[in-house]
Amino acid sequence: MKRTLSILMMLLMVSLLVMPACGDNEAGYEDVPSDAWYAEAVTALREKGVMDGVGGNRFDPAGVFTRAQLATVLYRLAGKPAVQGEDGFSDTQPGAWYADAVLWASQSGIVGGYGNGLFGTNDPTTQEQLAVMLWRSAGSYVLGSEYTDPDGVENAASGWAFDAVRWARVDGLLTDAVPFEATQPASRAQVADMVYRYLQLLERFSDVDAMSGATPKAESGSGVLVAYFSCTGNTEKIAGFLADALGADTFRIIPEEPYTDADLNYGDSESRTTREQHDPEARPAISGRVAQMDDYGVVFLGYPIWWGQAPKILYTFVESYDLSGKTVVPFCTSGSSGIGSSAENLRKSAPDAVWLEGRRFSASAGSAAVTEWAGGLDLGRKEKEMKLKIGETEVPVTWEDNPSAAALRKLLPLTIRMSMYGGFEQVGPIGQSIERDDAQMTTQCGDIVLYAGDQLVIFYGSNSWAYTPLGHIELSPQEITALLGGGDVAVTLSEG
Ligand SMILES: Cc1cc2nc3c(=O)[nH]c(=O)nc-3n(C[C@H](O)[C@H](O)[C@H](O)COP(=O)(O)O)c2cc1C
Repeated sequence: MKRTLSILMMLLMVSLLVMPACGDNEAGYEDVPSDAWYAEAVTALREKGVMDGVGGNRFDPAGVFTRAQLATVLYRLAGKPAVQGEDGFSDTQPGAWYADAVLWASQSGIVGGYGNGLFGTNDPTTQEQLAVMLWRSAGSYVLGSEYTDPDGVENAASGWAFDAVRWARVDGLLTDAVPFEATQPASRAQVADMVYRYLQLLERFSDVDAMSGATPKAESGSGVLVAYFSCTGNTEKIAGFLADALGADTFRIIPEEPYTDADLNYGDSESRTTREQHDPEARPAISGRVAQMDDYGVVFLGYPIWWGQAPKILYTFVESYDLSGKTVVPFCTSGSSGIGSSAENLRKSAPDAVWLEGRRFSASAGSAAVTEWAGGLDLGRKEKEMKLKIGETEVPVTWEDNPSAAALRKLLPLTIRMSMYGGFEQVGPIGQSIERDDAQMTTQCGDIVLYAGDQLVIFYGSNSWAYTPLGHIELSPQEITALLGGGDVAVTLSEG
């Protein structure tokens, strides 16, 4: 399997390299038999200083592992980078033994909490949560349909964990050692085993990428931001579906002063929300900012309906940035009200943005409804320009306007190590399969095509075969042959 690594994965690999190697199969705990299926994992993680026993020379293989403990294990694997800020969870304690780990994991997108402001610090990690945290650590790679788990284990997982469980199964993290029970606590033995297999996967990936020459994929820069405010998790859930559907970045609008249950009591005419919503001047302060708002051409704004309108903190957000020229798309959740005039009023705070019609979702809306809505929006997103370099030489290319070229653009930046083949072409792996629409053709010098869905081919001669056209180099045959016909080359595709 040739796939690109996330930046996070690379970080983890760096920390792996400085860890001592795994020794023999002596776990050294009195309750871990040396022939147990998890013994090697327990030993390795102990030696790496990643996962400890429970004291008294015991590992407690059948015991549960809390979410805070798992965040700590992943944080150790990442080399415990310095952290700053607040995690925004109401059930974590600043300065606690897990505080830096949970903050790091939440800032890295590895944990998102339950969506109601709670992280679930002391809750046992369920088996599907374990898969999801490891999957996110690895870059949340959604496996294509060519990677199928014959047993369909992922079908037992919750919707939000499906891709992660499938990945864990297909990539060998989730074995048959114990039956998979999605919502049951993972045992400490299972945690050790899966974390250890995850480390082994990273090592395999590092070999594969060294061979294919694929570069890590950029994590953000999609140009779409989903910014949202959510107190009880409904809007956050929709924001998550939206971000997944669009490959967008997310920003959670966190109030400097969190809203308590009493604050949210709309039955109380003196509650904070009632007062704020009736005060035209109210602009509750936000903790943190979007780092690079300039990177985004499209900004989705998600909020709950409060008293028929957007919470005042949305006005704070909108007025904190220059949104001129950006496409802004409001969406909301509510008990029953529609989006009403809430978006129209918010628009007055950023009149120079291009506001699309907003949409209200119920709390129970699923990802299909959100994805369908997002797919039908005219976001005016500009296609990324794609630049091709052969070695150090940039060459002019006319790219095809087809789904395969668009899919290739999404992988930028990409470096592919090509090999000469047949005296007429250079061929190299893209690193993953992309959309293809092969047709029999006779290629010309300069043609760039997709072969078998996952190979880039550039011709300095001609061949007849079934390919998907991607583009054509606009140079003379002599110039193309000089660039491609003298030996293997590396080609770089990047945003122009
Ligand atoms: C202060 C307050 C006022 C609300 N006003 C309305 C309302 O006018 N109409 C409505 O349908 N729901 C109303 N709701 C319900 C929320 O809009 C709904 O529960 C929303 O999905 C919560 O989103 P969240 O979980 O992302 O915070 C209100 C809730 C609160 C706390």
